[in-house]
Formats: sequence, structure tokens, C-alpha cells
Amino acid sequence: MVYLTRQEHFNAAHKLYNPNWTKERNEAVFGVCANENWHGHNYDLFVTIKGIPDADTGFLFDVKVLSKIIKLHVIDQLDHKNLNMDVPFMEGKMCSTENLAMAIWHQITTHLPPNVTLHCIKLYETARIYVEYFGE
Ligand code: NI
Repeated sequence: MVYLTRQEHFNAAHKLYNPNWTKERNEAVFGVCANENWHGHNYDLFVTIKGIPDADTGFLFDVKVLSKIIKLHVIDQLDHKNLNMDVPFMEGKMCSTENLAMAIWHQITTHLPPNVTLHCIKLYETARIYVEYFGE
């Protein structure tokens, strides 16, 4: 079994705000991410697939095809967007890095061929905080 990772980057705006709570409680729980007038993050995304390399090519998967899948179904949907307002697959969800990583998993895994398995979505919200999702 071999693992292959593609690194991507996107910028997006969001806020973390539970409309059922008071402003004070939102600020207490979400801190600066509760800012009503939005803020942005520079997200770094690592998409890892796993499998057995093809005998003829030595490749696990065509990385150009993997890049296209990620670009079309993730980066084009998220880059320079407002996660709360512009992204259909985040509709009705809190736009946390945790929920975003899980949503990215579903965006990618449904477009991979049957012989390629998605292993991990690793999503950095800042250089010091990241989330990993393994599909469980
Ligand atoms: Ni934030």
C-alpha cells in the first residue's frame, strides 16, 4: 500500500456564529471567528489517496486527474468565497475547519474511481492548527 498526497491552497472568508445564541455567548465560544463582519483564512489542504501502484505505469493514480477533481469540486467552489454564503455544500453547517474537512472529503471521494481510496483530508486553518479527517 502506498500513499500519495496532493497539496492545494485556497483563501476564504467565514464566520462562526450560532444564531440561536447571544452575541456574548458567540464571542465567548468562537472568539475572533465570531466577528459579525467576517474574516478570512489562508487554508492549506492536503489530499491523501492510497492503493497499489499500477504494474504498467508504476503510478497509484494519474495526478493530473486527481488535481482536476480537487480543483473542480473543491478549490473552484471555495477559493475567494464566503464559506457561509457562497458554498452550496456548506449550507446549513457551521463553517468550522472540522466541518469543512468532512465536506471536502465527500466532495472528493464521490468523484474518485473505484480502484482509488481516499485516505485523509488534512486542512490547515492557520500554520499552527489543522484538522485531519479519515472518513469515519
Ligand atoms: Ni475563523
